[in-house]
Amino acid sequence: MRRLALALGLAALACDVAGAEVVARAETSQPVESAAVPADPAAIGRWLHASAYRSWPAQSGVHATSEHGGARVFFNEALAASMRAGAGEHPVGSAAVRELYEADLVTLRGFAVMLKLRPSGPGGEGWLWYEQYGTGADAKPLVAGTGERGCVACHDAGFDFVHPPEPG
Ligand code: HEC
Repeated sequence: MRRLALALGLAALACDVAGAEVVARAETSQPVESAAVPADPAAIGRWLHASAYRSWPAQSGVHATSEHGGARVFFNEALAASMRAGAGEHPVGSAAVRELYEADLVTLRGFAVMLKLRPSGPGGEGWLWYEQYGTGADAKPLVAGTGERGCVACHDAGFDFVHPPEPG
């Protein structure tokens, strides 16, 4: 996977997809090496626990969702740039992490992750779909696989399976 240089500091960037949502880059001092999502689902729990994705461009804060909780989405540099460009198809290596929060919008309760391993294909089979409840390094996923139907059923309405972020 392509290693991406991550800039430090705050920079606003606009995403041109459906409604021009604005995402802000979170401040970070994480090493670039750890920013790539492991392609092996068994390693993703530990990777999430280390929070390297928090160096990615993100929604500015946690927003309430229809699932009676909250969420905050982080997009890696490859995906953020592709969304900014309004691309209909995102590059291999694109990734997003959706932090899932309790209804208090403060307590982190889990994660949903997407990682584009190959060209998407009609059923999202080029994407790795991953969902985990719990935040410990040893938390086990409920969903971890390519083309997961429960995820694709909603995400095929997005742009190359990525939903434009809700305001947050
Ligand atoms: C009921 C419809 C629905 C289902 C089912 C669903 N999602 Fe999503 N997902 C959404 C919506 C809507 C967003 C944008 C939400 C936001 O901004 O908070 C989203 C956002 C995401 C994001 C952030 C990237 C993006 O597209 O904005 C990831 C990662 C994600 N979902 C992963 C998953 C995974 C993994 C599954 C299956 C375990 C899944 N989702 C199932 C509707 C769904």
